[in-house]
Amino acid sequence: VISEAVLNDAAQIVELWNNVGLMRPWNDPNKDIELSLAAESSMLFKAQKGNVLIGTVMAGYDGHRGWIYYLAVDPAHQKQGVGRKLYDTALDWLKEKGAPKVQILIRADNTDVVSFYEALGFEKSTSVLMGKPIDAF
Ligand SMILES: CC(C)(COP(=O)(O)OP(=O)(O)OC[C@H]1O[C@@H](n2cnc3c(N)ncnc32)[C@H](O)[C@@H]1OP(=O)(O)O)[C@@H](O)C(=O)NCCC(=O)NCCS
Repeated sequence: VISEAVLNDAAQIVELWNNVGLMRPWNDPNKDIELSLAAESSMLFKAQKGNVLIGTVMAGYDGHRGWIYYLAVDPAHQKQGVGRKLYDTALDWLKEKGAPKVQILIRADNTDVVSFYEALGFEKSTSVLMGKPIDAF
């Protein structure tokens, strides 16, 4: 069952993200969850089997493009269509918001997942991603 995540799900979500290797020391997962839940431009969905959280996806629309983050499925439940369903849910939300294009960022050390997105119709971009913390002047 896929539904909107709430703050009470945070502990299970962080555990899942740890289990699938999405955590990085420079990202505070609890802050990422809180910020997403507080922003109208962002949505965090969860997939549950019974009471157990087995998947997540975060979607964001910045007024120009739609973005998908934190697509994750518990390893014991992968390759059963859950990731696809979460992706479809995020895409429907982005469509409702009016986003004309969807993009994802894949870390350079996570190339396994490239073929998953290629199967969903994504193509590699030649753009270079740059970033910095917004308060780091
Ligand atoms: C990526 C991930 C969410 C996929 O979840 P999943 O539940 O296993 O995916 P699904 O079972 O819905 O698979 C959807 C389709 O992609 C294919 N697929 C799944 N994993 C794949 C892989 N690693 N390589 C190629 N194809 C893959 C499936 O065969 C399926 O194709 P089909 O619709 O033609 O049958 C999951 O592997 C995961 O949590 N990975 C770790 C976290 C991560 O790296 N997330 C992405 C961050 S950018």
